[in-house]
Amino acid sequence: MTAASDFRAIKLPLCHGAGLMPALGFGTLIADRAETVSATRNALAAGFRHFDCAERYRNEGEVGEALQAGLAAEGIAREDIFVTTKLWNTNHRPERVEPAFEASLNRLRLNYLDLYLIHTPFAFQPGEEQDPRDQEGNVLYDHGVTLLDTWKAMESLVDHGRCRAIGLSDITLSGLLPIFESARIKPAVIQVESHPHLPETQLLEFCRKNGIVFLAFAPLGHGIRPGPLEDPIVTAIAERVGKTPAQVLLAWAVQRGSALLTTPRSAARAAENFDICPLPEDAFDEINRIKTRQRLNDVVNTGSPGFIPRVRAT
Ligand SMILES: NC(=O)c1ccc[n+]([C@@H]2O[C@H](COP(=O)([O-])OP(=O)(O)OC[C@H]3O[C@@H](n4cnc5c(N)ncnc54)[C@H](OP(=O)(O)O)[C@@H]3O)[C@@H](O)[C@H]2O)c1
Repeated sequence: MTAASDFRAIKLPLCHGAGLMPALGFGTLIADRAETVSATRNALAAGFRHFDCAERYRNEGEVGEALQAGLAAEGIAREDIFVTTKLWNTNHRPERVEPAFEASLNRLRLNYLDLYLIHTPFAFQPGEEQDPRDQEGNVLYDHGVTLLDTWKAMESLVDHGRCRAIGLSDITLSGLLPIFESARIKPAVIQVESHPHLPETQLLEFCRKNGIVFLAFAPLGHGIRPGPLEDPIVTAIAERVGKTPAQVLLAWAVQRGSALLTTPRSAARAAENFDICPLPEDAFDEINRIKTRQRLNDVVNTGSPGFIPRVRAT
């Protein structure tokens, strides 16, 4: 557990001197375009300096617009924010990696990225259709490329100074190990679903031992109810410490040494989700003892995102 008293200021070091990642991150998985802009502006105004994006969210343009306007309005320098985006499954072929990266960068209106992630370890049939399926609706995977092939293309983006760090998302420990062992540039970050109902403790321990930042998505259980927000232990602690259940869940994530991504859409929720401070030790331990187990997003098993509605290419 970290001893810092102000969780808003915590930054986690990335390996290879690749910079610092603010522990509290804002996720941009928001379906509505106008809402993407307003939520991103709200997050920046509330104090978030870490932004998580993805080619697959189809809104990098709106995030870029919001960041450009927000940085100017708030007098914040580009170097003072941390921006991540992700390579989608249809771009795993090495020759597709750099063009996909540059297209994301253009949409985000940036000239470098702090972190580029392979969105999932599953390669899909290459092409413009992000969700390629056969006539029966089965995903069309690409068996002509390995994750290591894709990783090597990611490494060359770091070599060329296009992004400061690279990592993996939706990966299991058994999927991470071979890449970790073979990589010339080790993964700096892994992004996975994690909350008290899916603590992923073994993976967190591996990351801790090997200098990898463990970045939790869905720390509030994606707002799904019943879920961690309604866990009776969490709601009782919230009442006891005078915080909201969301603040308790986010504090728990930072207190166990992980970074997190949350998606508040309103200004009020952005302020609430950024106002995070340590839990008393007994409350932290109580959450660690929760026995409920629930995975909410099956993407880790299939590569098909559980929280993103299926949309055909236009
Ligand atoms: N790598 C991957 O495959 C992957 C998968 C999923 C997500 N992600 C990333 O992780 C980010 C976060 O994931 P997530 O959206 O599941 O995070 P989350 O923060 O666990 O869930 C967001 C949901 O929680 C609700 N919420 C937010 N603040 C709240 C509060 N203070 N009290 C009560 N409810 C609250 C929101 O409701 P309202 O909308 O009503 O405010 C929204 O429905 C995403 O935006 C994305 O960047 C990555």
